[in-house]
Amino acid sequence: MTTPILELRNVNKSFGPIDVLHDISLKVHAGEVLCLLGDNGAGKSTLIKTLAGVHKPTSGTILMDGKEVEFAGPREAQEMGISTVHQFGGTFPLMSIGRSFFVGVEPTKGWGPFKIYDRKTANAIAIKAVQDFGITRIDDGDRLIGGLSGGERQSLAIARAVHFGARVLILDEPTAALGVKQASHVLRIVLEAKKRGLAVIFITHQVMHAMAVGDHFAVLIRGALAANFMKGEKSREEITDLMAGGEAMAELESAIAAHTAN
Ligand SMILES: Nc1ncnc2c1ncn2[C@@H]1O[C@H](COP(=O)(O)OP(=O)(O)OP(=O)(O)O)[C@@H](O)[C@H]1O
Ligand SMILES: [Mg+2]
Repeated sequence: MTTPILELRNVNKSFGPIDVLHDISLKVHAGEVLCLLGDNGAGKSTLIKTLAGVHKPTSGTILMDGKEVEFAGPREAQEMGISTVHQFGGTFPLMSIGRSFFVGVEPTKGWGPFKIYDRKTANAIAIKAVQDFGITRIDDGDRLIGGLSGGERQSLAIARAVHFGARVLILDEPTAALGVKQASHVLRIVLEAKKRGLAVIFITHQVMHAMAVGDHFAVLIRGALAANFMKGEKSREEITDLMAGGEAMAELESAIAAHTAN
């Protein structure tokens, strides 16, 4: 077995007296899509924020390429290749595609020429990066982010993260607000990132989206790892059950039936 790109060992996270994550041990490999599942409040966002340097684990360790790491903050995690794309892809609606592509990129990291904004070069690089990613509908770097669809924005943000060297891509519900077509667009980009050898951590509440791209599934229930399995090891019904916090589907159905009968 290869060394995981990212590993958590017995990670706990509390906010004051509130224990949110309990003893999480999990391995994430390059070229793998890990779907992080669980009901609202299960601790998914807290877990990825811990991986992305936003939160410090209360106890336990995080390893990258087999070596223990501690992130002073999100910037440090990002510099080590852990990149989080937030819902709506971090919006700068009034910025052009080319300009937004280079926002927040340290000029000291080899991007010296962009200290003075070079529109043409920025546009050309941004467009090439997104087109290489299979997003062929974006072909004009002067277009404003606000004019892109939700799926396109999300895809652009992913292409950008990959372009700037992400090795672990964290997506917190990237398809939640999207229609079927837009969502499938984003899922295709997720598979493209995987093909390029990235590890993708994908949070979703939609079992179909998870099953369409997932190689590995981890289910959190009340902050604990309730299930950790590979593709094909569980049925859709079993996954749906686990995602709903372990409540049996039948229970939910009877509750709905009782409600509609009134
Ligand atoms: N900074 C914080 N301080 C105190 N409690 C917190 C903090 N952040 C999260 N929590 C609590 O931790 C629990 C898990 O929250 P989290 O946002 O990780 O859940 P989630 O699985 O991402 O849920 P959702 O699916 O709704 O996004 C919740 O009960 C939440 O109130
Ligand atoms: Mg969340």
